[in-house]
Formats: sequence, structure tokens, C-alpha cells
Amino acid sequence: MKTRVAYYSHSGNNRTLATKLAAKLGAELEEIRPACGAFFFQLLFTAFGHGPGVYGKDGAGDGTESLVLVAPVWMGSVAWPARAYLRSRARRARLVHVVCCCGSNDAGKDEQFGYETAFSKFRTILGTRAGTLSAMPSVLVLPADKRSGEDAAMSARLSESSFTGEVADRLADIVARIQA
Ligand SMILES: Cc1cc2nc3c(=O)[nH]c(=O)nc-3n(C[C@H](O)[C@H](O)[C@H](O)COP(=O)(O)O)c2cc1C
Repeated sequence: MKTRVAYYSHSGNNRTLATKLAAKLGAELEEIRPACGAFFFQLLFTAFGHGPGVYGKDGAGDGTESLVLVAPVWMGSVAWPARAYLRSRARRARLVHVVCCCGSNDAGKDEQFGYETAFSKFRTILGTRAGTLSAMPSVLVLPADKRSGEDAAMSARLSESSFTGEVADRLADIVARIQA
């Protein structure tokens, strides 16, 4: 099955994760480039669920049977550029897996800004095209005693050397779920 990994990343975490995922899945890697890149506007579009699209030809991923969309969670939603990508370039992708490197952790996943809150919105958007939805909490790169608090969540950064221990286990689990 032809797989494409498309990612949007503002501060690098989801780029690092997407690059690793694409290598593990033997998939094409594509960066999602929003037509309006201003961060403030991206947040507004995310909150309202409407906004301009992304660069690139619509339907370019039409031959893609399985799309893995990698993007951050913002304000309890998946960042706008990922949604814009689905409406244009990936409008006919048959199966869409979502993977988010995010600030929320497993304990807070069902809270207002937790990743499950974002995933439930994405399940509604995707309908029958929804595949697996997986989270990589960014705090997993930190020692267990330094993971609490908003500062830890917002400043934790994934790098090539992060993929050991719990982060590596989580990645293996995400890959297995996508390939199942
Ligand atoms: C404006 C803003 C809002 C955010 N809101 C959330 C949120 O609601 N839930 C969450 O889990 N993480 C939230 N985060 C944290 C990001 O999802 C997290 O830092 C992610 O790893 C950033 O990915 P990136 O480096 O690829 O941009 C937010 C980050 C920013 C900048």
C-alpha cells in the first residue's frame, strides 16, 4: 500500500517525528506549507475551523491509499494547516492516520486541551476515512520527575537522540498500529 507522511510543524517536534515515521514506514515525506504562514492567523484559523489552504496542487496525493498526517495539537484541536491539507491536497486519501506530538500527556488526554479532545474532532472531520489516531506527548523526552507543568510541556523538544526508552517504545507502537 502506498503511504505518504505529510507533516506540519511550527517548532520542530512534529517534523522530527514525521521524518522518523516516514523512514520506519518506507513512506514519502511531504511538508505541509500553509498559504498564510503568520502564526497568529494560524491560531485563529484553528479556533474557527476555517481559513486559507496550503501550497501545492489539490489532489496531489490522489494515488495515496494511506495518509499519515503529523501535526501539533493547538487549543484542543489539530493545527489548522493539517485540516487545510485534508481539504485540498489529500481530499481523496482513502485512509487517514493522525499522529500528534503534543504538549498534553496521557493523564490529561481527555481534558479540554488534551489530545483525545482533538482526536474526537478529527474523527468527526474524517468520518469513515479515519484510521488510527496516536499521540506522542513531548514530555516523554524529559526525565519522569520533570514532566509536570505547562512549561515542561511547551519547552520539551524532540531530536534524533530522543528516540530511546519510552519515546522509542511509543514510536514502535504507533508504527505497529498504522501497519496493522
Ligand atoms: C499556541 C499553542 C497552543 C497549544 N495548545 C496545545 C493543546 O491544546 N494541547 C496540547 O496537547 N498541546 C498544545 N500545545 C503544545 C504543542 O502541541 C507541542 O508543543 C508540540 O510538540 C509542538 O509541535 P511542533 O514543534 O511540531 O510545532 C500548544 C502549543 C502552542 C504553541
